[in-house]
Amino acid sequence: MAEDRRESIMDLEEVEPSPVDETPLEFKEGYFSSEKDPEKTAQHPKRTSTLGLGGHNTIWYLSRIQKYSSYVFTAFAGAHIANTSIIPLVMRSVPESERYLLLTRPYYQGLPMEPLLVIAPLWAHIISGVALRVARRNLNAKRYGAAGNEKPSFFSSHFWPKVSGISKLGFQFTPLVIGHIFINRGIPNQFPGGQSNVNLSYVSHAFAKHPVISYAGFTALLAIGISHITWGWAKWLGYTPDQSTKTGGERQLEKKRRWYVINGIALAITGLWMAGGFGVIGRGGEAPGYVGRMYDQMYQRLPLIGKWM
Ligand code: HEM
Repeated sequence: MAEDRRESIMDLEEVEPSPVDETPLEFKEGYFSSEKDPEKTAQHPKRTSTLGLGGHNTIWYLSRIQKYSSYVFTAFAGAHIANTSIIPLVMRSVPESERYLLLTRPYYQGLPMEPLLVIAPLWAHIISGVALRVARRNLNAKRYGAAGNEKPSFFSSHFWPKVSGISKLGFQFTPLVIGHIFINRGIPNQFPGGQSNVNLSYVSHAFAKHPVISYAGFTALLAIGISHITWGWAKWLGYTPDQSTKTGGERQLEKKRRWYVINGIALAITGLWMAGGFGVIGRGGEAPGYVGRMYDQMYQRLPLIGKWM
């Protein structure tokens, strides 16, 4: 009997929280409003702070940080696909495309643009995502915990929100993008001359000398990263299959249609990025002489695999 009751409580946890989830009023102010005299409330309405930010809970703020940080990183990704795919596709030459990379670099590298456009939004997005899971877990524990007899530990699977497909993609994308930044920004910065040593030929050099790892690494980065970003945008815009408002048989059809459209868009963008990234930069060949030897030394700085490079 007690087991049945616990199972029915666990079923409630399966519902994925919406991105704009807010604590219901009864949790903010107790089951009954603390305001005793409703007329008094009407005469003195609650004021927000001067900036108009008052009255929201942690989940509300974290959801917004997670949403708006993704807008900024998408803007960077737009400039990046232009530099590393569309321009190489148009120019059909790595050295010709490099001029555009160097031209746009000041807009996303160095201070203050790099922290504002790349580092802060990326970390804000990752940290707010993890913090949201913890906050939602704690809210679930508060909402449903009192109904159970035992108090499960923080680390047990009780009360944790379901990990959605978008979240799974995000968790896989994180080490890939951090690794990509380390290779293209972290390592060059350890050498005299810093980033000025590196341009698209640094990537071409890796493709020519270490094709298996380069193709595998970039395929994972592009496929997982673009799927995460495309599905994420579908969610912000209310177009994911689960967000369909249709009912009955029509709903199944609409859900299927949405699934194909979102994956189709992700596939098209991945294909476009691969066409320029692999088709032009990937085929640019080894860098000759001193520059090539410096690139080798840079790739040797990679942890674990560097000693074979
Ligand atoms: C074939 C595909 C790609 C290629 C050839 C490529 C190449 C590069 C290069 C050459 C840099 C150094 C930029 C510079 O020195 O100006 C870089 C940096 C970076 N890339 Fe990529 N990239 C690719 C895909 C991606 C994807 C899918 C993402 C994630 C959306 C991404 C995120 C970044 C980030 C965050 C940086 C660091 C930017 C900075 O701090 O300056 N890249 N990439």
